[in-house]
Amino acid sequence: MCRRNKIIIGLVFALVFIPATLFAAHIEYFKSIPVPADNPQTPEKIELGKQLFFDRRLSGDGTMSCATCHVPEQAFADGLDISMSYPTTKNWRNTPTLLNVAFYKSFFFDGRAATLEEQALFPVMSAFEMNKNLDYLEEHIRSVPSYVADFKKVFGGDVTRGRIAMALAAFQRTLISMNAPIDKYLKGDTKALSAEAKKGYELFKGKARCIKCHDGVLLSDSRFHALNVPENPAFVNDPDVKATRRFVAKVYHYADYKKLNEDPGRFLVTNNKKDWRAFRTPTLRNIAQTAPYMHNGIFKTLDEVIDFLNNGGGKGNKVLTPLGLTSEEKKYIKTFLIEGLTGDKVKIKHPDIP
Ligand code: HEC
Ligand code: HEC
Repeated sequence: MCRRNKIIIGLVFALVFIPATLFAAHIEYFKSIPVPADNPQTPEKIELGKQLFFDRRLSGDGTMSCATCHVPEQAFADGLDISMSYPTTKNWRNTPTLLNVAFYKSFFFDGRAATLEEQALFPVMSAFEMNKNLDYLEEHIRSVPSYVADFKKVFGGDVTRGRIAMALAAFQRTLISMNAPIDKYLKGDTKALSAEAKKGYELFKGKARCIKCHDGVLLSDSRFHALNVPENPAFVNDPDVKATRRFVAKVYHYADYKKLNEDPGRFLVTNNKKDWRAFRTPTLRNIAQTAPYMHNGIFKTLDEVIDFLNNGGGKGNKVLTPLGLTSEEKKYIKTFLIEGLTGDKVKIKHPDIP
């Protein structure tokens, strides 16, 4: 083939194929759930993971399962500003939704777990969440004959903490909520968004600059930014919250943990000053169902979040600037968030616990 033809074919390819794939990427992404090669999805494993997710044996005092905080009927969040905690202790962060976690690149507000398998045992052993000794957990699950049989069937072997985590991860990968109006709109259904929501979407991409961080299929760049959201007043003088922060910081080898008086966010993971109080950009899918907002649940409504952003974020932050949105414009953005981003409902039949 002569050189000129090659260039022409290359150009045609670039013009036709690339925009088509970029457009399709948004929608096609959801069709393939990323699954690690060493933990393939099987119906039996998913069912086992679901039982474990609802089993209160996973907590030290037998009162809490994963579903106590990640409530299926509340988009797998809990509606509280700060999550529940193990008796006599306090939690320090808001319970995030588990919808679409299959697509996350890291887990927790500070990204300290890399996979769902790695994440699953953190809340179980966390002193201020489920507080279950993992050696005891293995014996506890092993004491139930039907679990022993299920682990044998699913994994070909005994109950182990690693396999408990694998089953929990497999179940969570099924919590997919897609087909939101924005997905339909981007596929070409121009009626999927109301006129107000469309205006909100244009502002979201334009004047309000939300897309700078809330982009891609999750409406999150999966990166960490310090917006410096206000402190939750409930934290200021609470010795139990101080204990929780200092405990986590100590576990993460932060030398000054004894003096710690705020949530250091991503800093604990990277030890990099620029990550002080930085948190992962949350997904905005199903945002209408997961109030209150931010890592510490400080904002009860989307209006409060939008006002905070419009004012240029929290004191001393280096990532946001005032937006100058009118009250109409703020309303359009809110309409887009509520109407545009709510996907399929994930209905879960609560399993019988053996
Ligand atoms: C006591 C309440 C509570 C319980 C019980 C609980 N969680 Fe969570 N979960 C939270 C909180 C709070 C966070 C955020 C913590 C953080 O970012 O440091 C979280 C974060 C997560 C995340 C990360 C989500 C994200 O946005 O990155 C996953 C996945 C998760 N939990 C799964 C589970 C599983 C599986 C169980 C049961 C083994 C469980 N949780 C039990 C409160 C709870
Ligand atoms: C510089 C990156 C960045 C920009 C720009 C940005 N956000 Fe965010 N957004 C974040 C981060 C990071 C958080 C979490 C902060 C925290 O928990 O401390 C967040 C939190 C939120 C939340 C709360 C989510 C939840 O589940 O708690 C909403 C809603 C939100 N942003 C909407 C918007 C809108 C609307 C815009 C545009 C007006 C916008 N954001 C612009 C990074 C950004």
